[in-house]
Amino acid sequence: MNIPKHIAIIMDGNGRWASKRCLPRIAGHQQGVNAVRTVVKACGKLGVKTLTLFAFSSENKNRSKEEVSLLFKLFLTVLKQEVKKLNKHNVRLKIIGDLSLFPEDVQKTAAEAQMQLADNTGLTLVIAANYGGQWDIAQAAKQAAEAVVKGNIKPEDVTIERFSNYLSLAGEPALDLLIRSSGELRISNFLLWDIAYSELYFTDTLWPDFNEAELQKAIKSFNDRDRRFGSRKDNSC
Ligand code: IPE
Ligand code: IPE
Ligand code: MG
Repeated sequence: MNIPKHIAIIMDGNGRWASKRCLPRIAGHQQGVNAVRTVVKACGKLGVKTLTLFAFSSENKNRSKEEVSLLFKLFLTVLKQEVKKLNKHNVRLKIIGDLSLFPEDVQKTAAEAQMQLADNTGLTLVIAANYGGQWDIAQAAKQAAEAVVKGNIKPEDVTIERFSNYLSLAGEPALDLLIRSSGELRISNFLLWDIAYSELYFTDTLWPDFNEAELQKAIKSFNDRDRRFGSRKDNSC
């Protein structure tokens, strides 16, 4: 089995999982955290290099004040709770997105957790929080423009390779597989630049029900794909 080096997941369907059970939406988010634990463990075991999880999109701040604040609280609790275990499993943590929106205690805990786990050499866990693919490209363009204005680079130096160094996933392996749970067939402003040649996998399973078997199914589907990257191996029939 060919294990993707880099998997990203749009963890969707928490609200529907909860409403099917007549529970508040936050109960779905809480249950979703268990699925995150399972998938992080499974990816570490399989030897995936990087796992990027979409936890909160730049558009999710438009949800009710109550849901947003409960999500911030959950994020803070989980960060605090899990750091020790992640460290034990040699997981490196990277948080991407515009964290300035988050309450100060969340920003502080996020920075501390990243520092604590920075030297680990196992799975890199990337959490996208208040992240948008359009935001990422715009902030990279801003950095490139600033480098030109300062005279550090010339406009013609802004190649695809150089530009990608300013993006949030700089230094991570190319994104091999993007998974979205809950049956929605869209990207919802996730990793727009990075999905150029990713394989896409959609499942109807709601995120809180996603488990190791679901991950295996996605990887199996990935193995059945013929990744051509625009070229052809040969022209015979
Ligand atoms: C995904 O689940 C989690 C976040 C966006 C934070 P949703 O909350 O979008 O769940 P559905 O799509 O309403 O079921
Ligand atoms: C995408 O899900 C964001 C996350 C899973 C964090 P949404 O539920 O916000 O996406 P839409 O609204 O269905 O496009
Ligand atoms: Mg959703």
